[in-house]
Amino acid sequence: MARIPKETVDQIIHHADIVEVVGDFVSLKRKGQNMWACCPFHHEKSPSFSVAPAKGLYKCFGCGKAGGVVQFIMDIEGTSYVEALKYLAKKYGIDVQEEEKTPEQQLAQNEKDSQFIVSNWAKDHYHKLLQDNEEGQSIGWSYLRQRGLNQATIKTFELGYSLDQWDDLLKSATAAGFELKYLEKTGLVVRREDDQGQDTGRRYDRFRGRVMFPIHNISGRVIGFGARTLKPNDKTAKYLNSPESEIYHKSDVLYGLYQARQPIRSEELCYLVEGYLDVLSLHQGGIKNVVASSGTSLTDGQIRLIKRYTDNVTVLYDGDAAGIRASLRGIDMLLEGGLNVRVVLFPDGDDPDSYIRKVGDQRFKEHLDGASQDFIQFKTDLVSREAAHDPVKKAEAIREVLQSIAKVPDPIKRQVFLQQTSQAFGIDEQVLITEYNKLVRNATSKAPGGQGSTSTSSSSSGSGASYPNKANNQQPATNNQLSPEEEAEALMYGASPEDLMGGGGDLGTISREDLEPVPDVVEQCEREVVRLLLLYSAQPLTPDLAVAQYLLEQLDETPFKTGIYADMLHLCRQELEQGRWPEVRTLIQHGRSDIRSVVAELATEKYELSPNWTTHQIHVPREVDQLQIACDNAILRLNKVNVERELAVRLEALRHPADEATLMENLQTIHLLKQMDNQLANMLGTVIPRLGL
Ligand code: CTP
Ligand code: MN
Repeated sequence: MARIPKETVDQIIHHADIVEVVGDFVSLKRKGQNMWACCPFHHEKSPSFSVAPAKGLYKCFGCGKAGGVVQFIMDIEGTSYVEALKYLAKKYGIDVQEEEKTPEQQLAQNEKDSQFIVSNWAKDHYHKLLQDNEEGQSIGWSYLRQRGLNQATIKTFELGYSLDQWDDLLKSATAAGFELKYLEKTGLVVRREDDQGQDTGRRYDRFRGRVMFPIHNISGRVIGFGARTLKPNDKTAKYLNSPESEIYHKSDVLYGLYQARQPIRSEELCYLVEGYLDVLSLHQGGIKNVVASSGTSLTDGQIRLIKRYTDNVTVLYDGDAAGIRASLRGIDMLLEGGLNVRVVLFPDGDDPDSYIRKVGDQRFKEHLDGASQDFIQFKTDLVSREAAHDPVKKAEAIREVLQSIAKVPDPIKRQVFLQQTSQAFGIDEQVLITEYNKLVRNATSKAPGGQGSTSTSSSSSGSGASYPNKANNQQPATNNQLSPEEEAEALMYGASPEDLMGGGGDLGTISREDLEPVPDVVEQCEREVVRLLLLYSAQPLTPDLAVAQYLLEQLDETPFKTGIYADMLHLCRQELEQGRWPEVRTLIQHGRSDIRSVVAELATEKYELSPNWTTHQIHVPREVDQLQIACDNAILRLNKVNVERELAVRLEALRHPADEATLMENLQTIHLLKQMDNQLANMLGTVIPRLGL
């Protein structure tokens, strides 16, 4: 018994484009015939949510949600069929001729619909009061004007005013036929209790004499309100907000996102501010890709929301140092969410709203461009300023920065950050990496579930955030070591790069080796080559070239440095020369127990993607389908770390006295090695993206 006529329903479904509709809620990327995104219905890091435009369907292969346009709106909003249709009708400008019905009938649909409807009604009510009512005009309206807001902004954000009375909303809503139940559930009306906490049966309006900021969800429905007092010395809070309700989950809401979502997408950037008025002023000034966390600390839910639309966030800060310190944690969470984070500071005492009104739109935009800084850089500056001239603090500062870097899920970005940080602090990169790995290891061993962060990336990127990829090297625990803190301090206690390069400075007994109980990078790369060689030896890369042949050929000039892997490589070569494929089956029988155990480890390492994929019979690139890339990747990485090692040795040699000729030769080699290093980095850059790392 749909109340919307059949022809209208058909018209809506005919006009609604699934890509457009879904695209309002997630950023779809085309891959083949379908579009893909991270699923809006469950938490995931790589996309398993797809839209098939030709069929007008969406389906998530992770959580199983599937359907057409109307179902999508019902799913994402939790509304009824009729409400979903109305949403689509509104989006496509289709007139819905509803049959006359009382508010009671309207409310009869479902619980959430009822709360949406009453919230929407309240928003209209407050908006009308602001525009037409005498008190609304003289108090609310003039306040907003005095804050510099114009009619267009007020309309776009549907601002309103609540009369300074105990029951204006209560009376009007009841007169309009709304049930008290929903007014209470949405927090618009509050029940008065007596001293014992017993319901007195009396009710009153939550919002009185305040400017009303409706809070919209991403499809534009009102789900709650923020309300600012207009009395300068009000004893109550400056802002009063709707309580949590079935439709309003504070941790999953960003103020202004509904108005900002398209601009965020087209600008490929989201500005994050704190307050309602910051959003309004910036929007009015032409910066429309802006949302607010509404004063609370950021939540995972809010970060995921941003991530649906862009990977880039710029956080706009009020300038005082205490505030910045307090926000660092929230920013780390943004990094952890895989976002690229930049930061803009404002002069002390100004927030984005006051600053844009002070300097004007143009200069404000220039400030955004000119003063924005990458977050890691920003944090480095911040903590190193605090630690200036204090070596102990400096060690702590470095660790703080490393902690942020550890949150970055992308290994390549992490590497770049480590490089930058090593330069900024004047600390050898390898030393920084050592420290980094220690941090990550400590964090992982402290975390109850073992691995700190999870990732399901394919083949050669390893688990978690450990540098540079696999963290599964069990390093023997050395017990006569300094504590990590002592070690770090010794290390960073004014130690110059010279000292740290092992020049035998005044660091006493601490040598570079002592400081390096890290999973060795070269060793890891060699291990990866051997793994591919063993697991896929006979797999053809081209009709007449198998993995084993290819790898061994490529490695002809590269002697392995790790004993066991060198031995295994040699064994593989022998097998091939005798006309057999080197294989797990045969090598697992080998006489040496260390070889047997490495073979067993390599054969059982987990490189497969989530089983979800296979159960849904979706084709995803498995390592075996990407062998050429995996092999190239492994070899390039190995070559790169070897070049880096050699470079380090040469750089160190520069620090020792040598005759002119040796020096020149050394410089030339360094130059060459640097070129090779860059070249390899470029080549890796073109291989890696295809792996979807
Ligand atoms: N906030 C809140 N409750 C409060 C204070 C603040 O919910 N008691 C939230 C609001 O979302 C507010 C944001 O925190 O917008 C930032 O607070 P603040 O900087 O104090 O307010 P502004 O938005 O700057 O408002 P105004 O400029 O009017 O003072
Ligand atoms: Mn303000």
